[in-house]
Amino acid sequence: MSRKKITVVGAGNVGAHTALWLASKELGDVVLIDVMEGTARGKGLDLMEASPVEGFDSNIKGTGDYKDTANSDVVIITAGLPRKPGMSRSDLINTNLGIVKSVIEGIAPYSPNAHIIVVTNPLDVMVYAAWKLSGFKPNKITGMAGALDSARMRAFIAMELNVSVEDVQALVIGGHADEMVPLKRYSTVSGVPIGQLMSAERIDAVISRTKTAGGEIVGLLKTGSAFYAPSAASAEMAEAIIKDKKRVIPCAAYCSGQYGVNGMFIGVPVKLGAGGVEKIYEVELDDAEKKAFDNSVSAIKKLIDDLKI
Ligand code: NAI
Ligand code: 2OP
Repeated sequence: MSRKKITVVGAGNVGAHTALWLASKELGDVVLIDVMEGTARGKGLDLMEASPVEGFDSNIKGTGDYKDTANSDVVIITAGLPRKPGMSRSDLINTNLGIVKSVIEGIAPYSPNAHIIVVTNPLDVMVYAAWKLSGFKPNKITGMAGALDSARMRAFIAMELNVSVEDVQALVIGGHADEMVPLKRYSTVSGVPIGQLMSAERIDAVISRTKTAGGEIVGLLKTGSAFYAPSAASAEMAEAIIKDKKRVIPCAAYCSGQYGVNGMFIGVPVKLGAGGVEKIYEVELDDAEKKAFDNSVSAIKKLIDDLKI
């Protein structure tokens, strides 16, 4: 069986760490590409030199030339500016739209059959732009956010209860913004709903921290945004596609009527496998959850309506 090929666009904090997770899990050969060619080549070489120590067989190539990305199976787009303290994700829209456009122009002709995972913020808007600009089928384009937001919620629940993160499940849907919708009714510890394990007050605190978790890290780092958990979540999605695992992960997926949403990408639970987004699961939402979800959709829709592509 030949190895899969995975391109990571953007060799910054998220991109370089994504390359590390992908290579160390031996998910395939990795191409790391950046406009800062030296950064991509340097980090690619550095990772290659780590491989004998950790014992992973994966070729990692840093480059500035899209020819090297040809025939990628999966492309993860992390190119773009991160937020600084005081900025919202939507403040990045114009700059990052231009970056995503140039990335798609570079990637699409060389890898017309690739699955694209968009990470660049504002996430739900950039994944829409990548879809529009590439002309790829919507099941082959997803955005990484729910995997991260749910992981954060899982971590906070585990910290709260002092239990293993392995036993904690959580589901966060909606846009990757402060209006995201953590669903406490679908969050469990080994199948036990968290409502039976935590007070309403502590659950509210976990939900509130989940919604602002990205900003919490920006406030601490001061020079950029989170990258360990975002890169791990990006690699998790790539693994689901490459290994056809049929994982059920919340991702920004193209909705054509599901949850009452039409023609845009938003965070919903999907089955992720070799076919990309193979199914969108429509879970039952109560009135308050539906209202919060619709509010999140409206906030993203407004940004998309203003998008000049
Ligand atoms: P970073 O600044 O460390 O890295 C960004 C990289 O993109 C830089 O190396 C830069 O040279 C490169 N780049 C810029 N323009 C490019 C182009 N046209 N082609 C190729 N490469 C280009 O930023 P970081 O922390 O890696 O974040 C990257 C993006 O991911 C940001 O937009 C950030 O907001 C977003 N992000 C999204 C998350 C999510 O949950 N969806 C989570 C974390 C970050
Ligand atoms: C995060 O949630 C900045 O979107 C990024 O950490």
